[in-house]
Amino acid sequence: MPTILDAITSRSSKRAYLPKPIPKEIQEKILNAASMTPSGANMQPWNVYAISNKEVLTNIGDAIIAKMNEGVENDQFIQYYPVNWVNPYKKRRITTGAGLYTLMEVDRKDNDTRVKMWHDNFRWFGAQTVFFVFTDKANIEGAQGALIDCGAYMQTIMLAAQEFAIDSCPQASTTEFGKVVAEVLNIPDNLALLYSVVLGYADNNAKINTYQPERVSLEDSVTFID
Ligand SMILES: Cc1cc2nc3c(=O)[nH]c(=O)nc-3n(C[C@H](O)[C@H](O)[C@H](O)COP(=O)(O)O)c2cc1C
Repeated sequence: MPTILDAITSRSSKRAYLPKPIPKEIQEKILNAASMTPSGANMQPWNVYAISNKEVLTNIGDAIIAKMNEGVENDQFIQYYPVNWVNPYKKRRITTGAGLYTLMEVDRKDNDTRVKMWHDNFRWFGAQTVFFVFTDKANIEGAQGALIDCGAYMQTIMLAAQEFAIDSCPQASTTEFGKVVAEVLNIPDNLALLYSVVLGYADNNAKINTYQPERVSLEDSVTFID
């Protein structure tokens, strides 16, 4: 039986899926497990739209790509990435992106393929289910705790999914177009999109799914005070 450590270390973001739907009862099991995520004051600030309807997913993707094609950089509730990238984070971001393009043999100057790869986010990498995680705007007005809680919730979703041989890819690409998602879904005004998680059965023959970016060592990320 896989241990919790096995599940944590074997998870990686998958970016190509088989066209195989996830049964509703499995989605419910994953979401029930995720509902056990701890949160400050047991606030449980997540509000999830679990979407497997092909037309709705296509409409969201179309709307985001149309917005991007208008030259709009983002239409968002929250700013996910740093406004000013500093090292070592900037270097890690560049290394991780370059590693993926090198694996896929995409030239640095091949902008069309790069754009298409980014648009694949909004075609959900071929997956049939996407969980869109919102929170109440009131939770993040002048406070960030709900973001911490919803981040933990994201990881619980992804780990619980593995129990059912379901892989995932978290997405801040949708965060950047959160208002577009909200408009297509016609969600209540009080909700803000934080992120989405693509879920599905990974295509194990897809080269892109072999990508496993490195992690920094403990020396570079942990300070022990014994
Ligand atoms: C909050 C968050 C947002 C992310 N957004 C995207 C995204 O929009 N598209 C994508 O392909 N990967 C996205 N990723 C995946 C990261 O690139 C990936 O987690 C990181 O490179 C480490 O790789 P691994 O998940 O395979 O271990 C995101 C990850 C997180 C945690």
